[in-house]
Amino acid sequence: MTSRSSIALVTGASSGIGAAVALELAEAGHDVALVARRGDLLERVAEQVRARGAQALVLTTDLAQPGATQQVLDSMTGLWGPVRVLVNNAAVPRSGPIASLDPRHWDLSMRLNLTVPFELARGVIPAMRRAGNGWIINIGSVSGLQAHAFAGPYAVAKRGLNALTELLAAENGDAGVRSACLCLGWVATEMAAPPEKVGVDPQELLAPEDVAATVRWLVESPVRLTLGPVLRVSPTHPGTALESVWPRLASEMHASGSLHA
Ligand SMILES: NC(=O)c1ccc[n+]([C@@H]2O[C@H](COP(=O)([O-])OP(=O)(O)OC[C@H]3O[C@@H](n4cnc5c(N)ncnc54)[C@H](OP(=O)(O)O)[C@@H]3O)[C@@H](O)[C@H]2O)c1
Repeated sequence: MTSRSSIALVTGASSGIGAAVALELAEAGHDVALVARRGDLLERVAEQVRARGAQALVLTTDLAQPGATQQVLDSMTGLWGPVRVLVNNAAVPRSGPIASLDPRHWDLSMRLNLTVPFELARGVIPAMRRAGNGWIINIGSVSGLQAHAFAGPYAVAKRGLNALTELLAAENGDAGVRSACLCLGWVATEMAAPPEKVGVDPQELLAPEDVAATVRWLVESPVRLTLGPVLRVSPTHPGTALESVWPRLASEMHASGSLHA
């Protein structure tokens, strides 16, 4: 058990947005459990969490493997206790033309980007309902709001994540458990394509810290207030809207053979 009253679980916490969210939540007074495959990077984030005066729990796990979410939930229950903030952030960006898609890319996308958030939400909701308080924040994409050719199973799973979030919100608001899906535009991370390739100024992209600040804003809002459940979070500059950039991005990736990255 931790000494804190609030425990957060962040998936994909080894890099990019997940790492920034973990640090922001630590800053806000939460102890944070960190999940991803790259244990060395998780340990580095854990050190930074502890430097902010919070406790960190590293759970090095491949969430795409069968039984992985149950192991994470069991570890949380055994070592720390009930989760108050769940951030479903881990995902893979499999894309490409539907007609020639390798079914393995489809399966992995559905598993990691949609089934894992469902399984973790299902696992934490009973304790959140009993406490009368909790947040489930899913990290979605503008690709889940609008069809962009070649966005592939990534877009399908992200659209499903919006629907999952809407159901979670509709079914658990009565018990003070809130849910939101942040549909992100372009954020400067490992996952994002290099903006220079399509003539976009990298300075115009969101930073992972912008998303982390949005998560904190949600978590610190009064329980009487509900936001979303589906919220768009994008760069202000219209030139960085994925809607306008995606066709150029897709043809660039198609030409380089990296669409199924
Ligand atoms: N960057 C953007 O422009 C953008 C736009 C819209 C939405 N998003 C969303 O933002 C979220 C975070 O992405 P990011 O941009 O921060 O990219 P990122 O730095 O590549 O983060 C992805 C995270 O997912 C983890 N992950 C991947 N496969 C995993 C697995 N099998 N098991 C456990 N963890 C796994 C990775 O950790 P390990 O490799 O260590 O496992 C990593 O921490 C994703 O949901 C993404 O769809 C990003």
